[in-house]
Amino acid sequence: MTERNATQPPGAGESTGIIAKLLSATASRDGDLRGVVGEFGVARVGRVLLDEILFRACLDDVPLADGENASVHVVLQHGGERFSATVSPRHVHVTDEPDPAGNGAGSLPAPVVTQDLTEVATALYGPAELITSVTRTIRWPGPGVVFPTPERPNLPRAYYDVARRVVQVMERSEQVDLTELAVRYGTDKWSAMHQYTRNYERHLGPLRDRRLNVLEIGIGGFDDPARGGKSLRSWKHYFPRALVYGIDILDKHLVDEPRLTTFRADQSNAAEVTEAAEKWGPFDLILDDGSHISEHVIKTFGTLFARHLRPGGLYIIEDLCTSYWPEVFQGDDTDLADPRYTIGFLKALVDGLHHEELLRPDAREPRPTDTTVSGLHLYHNVAVIEKGSNTEGSVVADVFRARRQREGR
Ligand SMILES: C[S@@+](CC[C@H](N)C(=O)[O-])C[C@H]1O[C@@H](n2cnc3c(N)ncnc32)[C@H](O)[C@@H]1O
Repeated sequence: MTERNATQPPGAGESTGIIAKLLSATASRDGDLRGVVGEFGVARVGRVLLDEILFRACLDDVPLADGENASVHVVLQHGGERFSATVSPRHVHVTDEPDPAGNGAGSLPAPVVTQDLTEVATALYGPAELITSVTRTIRWPGPGVVFPTPERPNLPRAYYDVARRVVQVMERSEQVDLTELAVRYGTDKWSAMHQYTRNYERHLGPLRDRRLNVLEIGIGGFDDPARGGKSLRSWKHYFPRALVYGIDILDKHLVDEPRLTTFRADQSNAAEVTEAAEKWGPFDLILDDGSHISEHVIKTFGTLFARHLRPGGLYIIEDLCTSYWPEVFQGDDTDLADPRYTIGFLKALVDGLHHEELLRPDAREPRPTDTTVSGLHLYHNVAVIEKGSNTEGSVVADVFRARRQREGR
C-alpha cells in the first residue's frame, strides 16, 4: 500500500483489544457480537475488519502494469449503519461511494461487495463451521465490464484478482501454507538457513482453525524497534483466530500491529518472562527462537512449560545445532548427553517420557516433566514438545518390578 488516507485505523493496541472481544463473541452462536459492535460502533469495528481483510488478502501481490490499478469497494453494514472503503493494491480510501481513482486513470469502475458486518466478523474470527455468506452481494458495474470491445477484448487480470482475494478472505477460503508465508514475510524458517515449515505443517496444521494464544521468543530485526516480526506476522497470517505475542531482549514495540503484541524481556530472566506470560498467557503454542544459548533455552522452558503452556499445547525449540557449537552460542559437544546443553536436556526428556518403564528405582532422579511431557518430536535442528498427561502406566514393567522385589534385587 502506498497511501492511507481518510479515516485512520485505531492503534495496534486498541485494534487488538477490539479483536480479542470479537474472537470471544464469534466463538459460538451464542456470543454477543451485536453487543461488541454496539460498544465500539460500526465505523471502528468496520475499520478493524477491513485492516484484517487487507492483511490476509495481500493485495500488493497482485501484479500491476505501470499506471494500472484495480480496486474493489467493500461495504460492511449493520443495523442501518455502514462502513465502506475502496481498496486496491496501491490505495485504501474510506469513502461512501466507490472511489474512481482506486482503479487508476481511465480504468474500470470498481465492483461493490456488500455484506453484513457481523457475518464478516464471524468469517474472519469465528470457527469454520459458523462461516456463512448469505448477506453478501457482489455488484459488477454494468455492461462496460461484461461485454468485450475491440479495444478491450479481455479485462485486465488484476481487475478480478483484487476482488477475488478480498472475497476469499471474507469467506476464509484463501488459505496459504506456512512455507509460502515464511517466504512472503521473510522469516528464515524456510530459507537457505532452515527448512522448518514442512515439519511445522504436520503439527500446526490441525490447530489452524482454533482460537489460540501464540508466543514466540525472539522477534528479530536487530536493535531497530521498528524492524523484525517476520515470523510473528507469518503466525498471525497462518492462524487467523490467534493472538500473537513476541518477546525480545530488545524493544520492538514499533512492530506491534493488530493481533500482534510485543514485550521486552530477557528470556534468561524468569521474572521478566513470567510478567509477560501472566499478562497474555496461558499459551497454546510457544516457540523459542531467541538467544539460542542452552542455559537460556533450558531456563525459559522451566519458566514457561509447566505454568504458562496449556495442556495439549506445543513447545518448540529451534536451532538445536547451537547446542553443539562452542564457537557461538556457548555450545559444547564434548559430552553429548550433558543436560546443561539443549541436546542433552532433550535426551533426558526422552528418558522422562519412558519413566514408567525404568525398572531400577535409582535409574534417575524423577522430574516434574516426566508426567507432563506426552510427546517429543525431533527433526533436524527443531524439537516439538507436547504437553499432556504421560501417566499411561506399564503393565509389563510392573510385572518385572514385582519380580525383582520378590527376588530382593
Ligand atoms: C533469530 S532472531 C529471531 C527471528 C524471528 N523469530 C524470525 O523468525 O523472524 C533472534 C532474536 O532473539 C533475540 N534475543 C537474543 N537474546 C535474547 C534474550 N536473552 N532474550 C530474549 N530475546 C533475545 C534477538 O534480539 C533477536 O531479535
